[in-house]
Amino acid sequence: MRKPFVAGNWKMNTDSLTSISLARTVAEGVADIAGEKIDVALLPPFVYMCYVIGALSTSHIAVGGQDVYFEPKGAFTGEISAAMLKDAGCTYVLCGHSERRHIIKETDELINKKVSAAILGGLLPILCVGELLEERKANKTDEVIKRQIERGLAGLSEEKVLAVTIAYEPVWAIGTGLNATPAQAQEVHGMIRGLVAGLYNGGVADEMRILYGGSAKADNAASLMGQSDVDGLLVGGASLKAEEFISIIKASV
Ligand code: PGA
Repeated sequence: MRKPFVAGNWKMNTDSLTSISLARTVAEGVADIAGEKIDVALLPPFVYMCYVIGALSTSHIAVGGQDVYFEPKGAFTGEISAAMLKDAGCTYVLCGHSERRHIIKETDELINKKVSAAILGGLLPILCVGELLEERKANKTDEVIKRQIERGLAGLSEEKVLAVTIAYEPVWAIGTGLNATPAQAQEVHGMIRGLVAGLYNGGVADEMRILYGGSAKADNAASLMGQSDVDGLLVGGASLKAEEFISIIKASV
């Protein structure tokens, strides 16, 4: 009932030529399944977004931003609004990626404003949550995830929250080659779904897609996706290699 969803977060990588060729190769590789059996999105750097959208014009792959600012427009030098992303042709946007939480120091309150602004602007936010290694070691995983989700979704009506996808990305697994085991992912995903059922209701929790992210690769995609509450993958490093990313998408159907 929940359609699988795989998104490739290119982070601050690629250039104009490689962004176009990567998008084209992925589109060709998954042309027979994208959109129909699985939702696929590419999240390129802002400056290459229009090239990527052009390269994907005949495919069913969506495009999204890696971040958004919460104000609709005005004197906010360097920022990009939800309306701009929508106008450029984006469908999705990441909110609260761990690199923004920990390197740029974004707070739950700021991330909540971004999630709301994204929905208001007609985008589908992907709210990223995840614990640090020391938090996991101190048995604080549930507490951290609960706080990030409650604060990230604060003030959203039932209708609005249905636009949200959640991505569970344990910080210790991002870019480290050390993925959570399928059982560890399932444990947290199940907890998140229960949390959403408590905050809203069982119907919303059943519909909400929860992606796993953190060293997802072609050789662990199927086992992660085999877990009942893992509905998709948010892929960083492995989404920069066309053949690897195509294999991940195929393994996730
Ligand atoms: P990774 O990144 O796949 O390179 O671990 C995932 C992410 O940060 O979204």
